[in-house]
Amino acid sequence: MCGVVGYIGSKEAAPILIDGLQRLEYRGYDSAGIAVLCGGKIESSKEVGRLVNLEKMLAIHPIKGTRGIGHTRWATHGAPSQINSHPHLSSDGSISVVHNGIIENYAELREELSTKGHKFISETDTEVVPHLIEQSLKEGAKSPVEAILRTLKRLRGAYALGILFRDEPDAIYCARKGSPLIIGLGEHENFIASDVPAIINRIKKAIYLNDGEVAVLRADSVEICTIEGVAVVPEIKEISFQAEAAECAGFETFMLKEIHEQPRILRAMLEKHVSADGKIDIGSSLSPDYFRKLNRIMIVSCGTAYHAGMYGKLLLENLTGIAVETDLASEFRYRDPKIDPGTLIIPVSQSGETADTLASIRMAKEWGCRICAICNVEGSSVVRESDAVFFTNCGPEIGVASTKAYTAQLMAFALFALYVAGVRGNLTPEQIKSYLTDLQEVPDAVHYVIQKKEEIRAIGEKHHDGPSSLYLGRKFNYPTALEGALKNKEISYQHAEGYAAGEMKHGPIALINEALPVICICTKTADEVYEKMLSNIKEVEARSGRIIAVATEGDTEIAKLAGDIIYVPAVRDEFTPIVNVVGLQLLAYYAARARGTDIDKPRNLAKSVTVE
Ligand code: F6R
Repeated sequence: MCGVVGYIGSKEAAPILIDGLQRLEYRGYDSAGIAVLCGGKIESSKEVGRLVNLEKMLAIHPIKGTRGIGHTRWATHGAPSQINSHPHLSSDGSISVVHNGIIENYAELREELSTKGHKFISETDTEVVPHLIEQSLKEGAKSPVEAILRTLKRLRGAYALGILFRDEPDAIYCARKGSPLIIGLGEHENFIASDVPAIINRIKKAIYLNDGEVAVLRADSVEICTIEGVAVVPEIKEISFQAEAAECAGFETFMLKEIHEQPRILRAMLEKHVSADGKIDIGSSLSPDYFRKLNRIMIVSCGTAYHAGMYGKLLLENLTGIAVETDLASEFRYRDPKIDPGTLIIPVSQSGETADTLASIRMAKEWGCRICAICNVEGSSVVRESDAVFFTNCGPEIGVASTKAYTAQLMAFALFALYVAGVRGNLTPEQIKSYLTDLQEVPDAVHYVIQKKEEIRAIGEKHHDGPSSLYLGRKFNYPTALEGALKNKEISYQHAEGYAAGEMKHGPIALINEALPVICICTKTADEVYEKMLSNIKEVEARSGRIIAVATEGDTEIAKLAGDIIYVPAVRDEFTPIVNVVGLQLLAYYAARARGTDIDKPRNLAKSVTVE
């Protein structure tokens, strides 16, 4: 959701801000704007729609200056319009603010400020912030920092703020609570950004601002204090990935690039976590003894990460004997789930900034639970608020539709479950070795599926134009069906429904006719799941549904039933979801391509859902 950037140094700010905003485009937005300190005045430019509109405007009316702030807005309060776009100004035009998050008490603040003579021009919650800062200065705050601190104490909600003062030309300011913000450190220049990829081409070191901190950036220094005004010595982190990680690298989209990265990422995870003698190291600060005594796990996450959680539940239950539940973080936080302090909470998140997942963590911490996250982004809020973290280490995921983060989450669960099963003695060392040998085959199997992309493209193009599609799977591949359907609807805008195949007769069978593509995940299994899936496929066939099967290479039985088949290599049942979903990612990709959608930035979606 909204992206924030800021710059102070000796270069022209506007091109740097635009470049940073372009790199944040993936977060989702519907308007954009910048403000630059220019000849003793704050000059702003804002446009609705894609950044290119703002660029065109800046080409006609350039803004010159070496410090500034910029923003991509994903509308919450007020429609996408030039007036509602950020940055927003104080009444006297001396303070400019960009904001990611939601100010929950903005209505009452607006009313209060109106009685003091402040005029508001937008419908946004954000506009109260520059006005409150202005009011604090009027009421005696002795410095911009003091005015900001007084203001922050009045705000309820979440914010990452970038602030520019007309009368403080040597500094830009920022603050965060609940929304991500980093400070990038350059040579005689400093930056603020919603995340590292926005400025990865300009910095090697960054400070991850903590909740409740305010920073003053000058070209050669950064000072940080808490909301109480207490100075903080920041931890400076080296950026662990290269600028190229956030580039398209010759692929037509980030999503396609990220699909192709999966075999390498999965191999790297295995190399990192499994030693030559077959020992699994999950890098957790939770002791083996903790896992031995554990009797309940609760997995919480949203969207794609929720599907990973469903897989995690199945695998952990299967391998460790621990009672495992999984829930959508957006539901979990409003339930009364009777969790005791002995329950381990596993939040799963690519971004580490999903508002509902974070709220669930905070709630569980109040109950005294330990938190062991599966997360991709170092320094993110989920990472910082968890007791232990299993990093998926996929590098930045820029495509809005999650692909590599998902398969990495599945791999993380596979390694985690095997580790816990080993520690608890649910599996013998020999059994673990056998699982690991099979797991090592997964990256090559994923590579094999990607190599078949032209065949998958033909299937995607053939079935892309219907209004709807149905995805069916069972057991370990029930989450795969949900994830395949989610990918399809996100990027191709075709309605798609994922269903547990056994539930088909309880309703969705009514949808089946000759126009409905039914994607059946029917890879061979050692148990009865394969036979049951075949029966479901026959039921679809009997009603003339258009069957697209994901099947095991060499399966001739399925060729008699399915119109189209995505063949995948055989891997152990438990690991088939990691391979099968890649076929569905490509299927959705090529269907979306045929429908001509904006694959990396699908309409209405934001990469990181930092508000409820
Ligand atoms: C779908 C997708 C979303 C995210 C969800 C959670 O492709 O990307 O459904 O999975 O918003 O995001 P994270 O994993 O960042 O918490």
